[in-house]
Amino acid sequence: MADLEGTKENADKDYGIGIPVETKLFFLKGLNNCDWGIKNRMSRIYNPNTGRTVMLAFDHGYIMGPTSGLERLDLAINPLIEYADSLMCTRGALRSIVPPTANKPICLRYSAGSSVLTYLNNECTIDIEDAIRINASAMAVMVAIGDSLYEAKTIENLVRTADYGYKYGIPTLGVTAVGKDMVRDARYIGTATRICAENGATFVKTYYCENFERVVNGCPVPIVIAGGKKLPEIEALELCYNAINDGATGVDMGRNVFQAEHPVAMIQAVRGVVHDNLTPKQALELYVDLKS
Ligand code: R5P
Repeated sequence: MADLEGTKENADKDYGIGIPVETKLFFLKGLNNCDWGIKNRMSRIYNPNTGRTVMLAFDHGYIMGPTSGLERLDLAINPLIEYADSLMCTRGALRSIVPPTANKPICLRYSAGSSVLTYLNNECTIDIEDAIRINASAMAVMVAIGDSLYEAKTIENLVRTADYGYKYGIPTLGVTAVGKDMVRDARYIGTATRICAENGATFVKTYYCENFERVVNGCPVPIVIAGGKKLPEIEALELCYNAINDGATGVDMGRNVFQAEHPVAMIQAVRGVVHDNLTPKQALELYVDLKS
């Protein structure tokens, strides 16, 4: 029953007169002016205490089919889920093997349309309603800067995705594709990441390179790095360490985790570098401990 007592003006009410309302800056760079929904979803993908994230990427099948280490998606991925801050995958993988009860923020592979058997990058985007339906925390769109055939199309995909992202409060992850002919240097990666940010990406995923701090400083929004091809474990951990030291806000890593000899140990070692500032040597010791 409604209680009129609570609406009466009286001396007992505490309006906190004299206490200023706290106005905190958002913890991720460049996102302070984003809407509440985008900030809330970014705060699920990222750990607000460290300002960093370990995203587990297993979307490789969308262009490569049954990638080594992911032949049985369920057996490969389900043991890793609890150690990831976020899962980056296709809607097909999500619906077929990821338990909805896992309650992990999903970075949905939102652009698709070609395969390694022909010419990559001729992509379209999926339906925004499906991203909302699966409760996506971010939408990942590939952008092929410097591709003379599909650069414009992939930037348009990013722009349209960011339009929907702003409309519905869902972050957009710009994923820079580096073609075979591109040099992975700070000039190229810096150009590609900046173009993603300026065209509406909430955050950007790219490859680590020399002088990466220039890439980070030239990009007004957070950057996470992809792992790339499988490396020996110590080198993969060094890659994470160097990227974090140079200003990356985390990793979106696939093959160096699920193709490791012990994937569950490897993802925990990667977490050690990203969230606990372990050195590569300390993280490798953790890996060796965990695998035994
Ligand atoms: C590439 O098309 C995918 O977006 C992958 O998610 C990405 O390359 C990250 O995976 P990896 O660490 O295996 O490079």
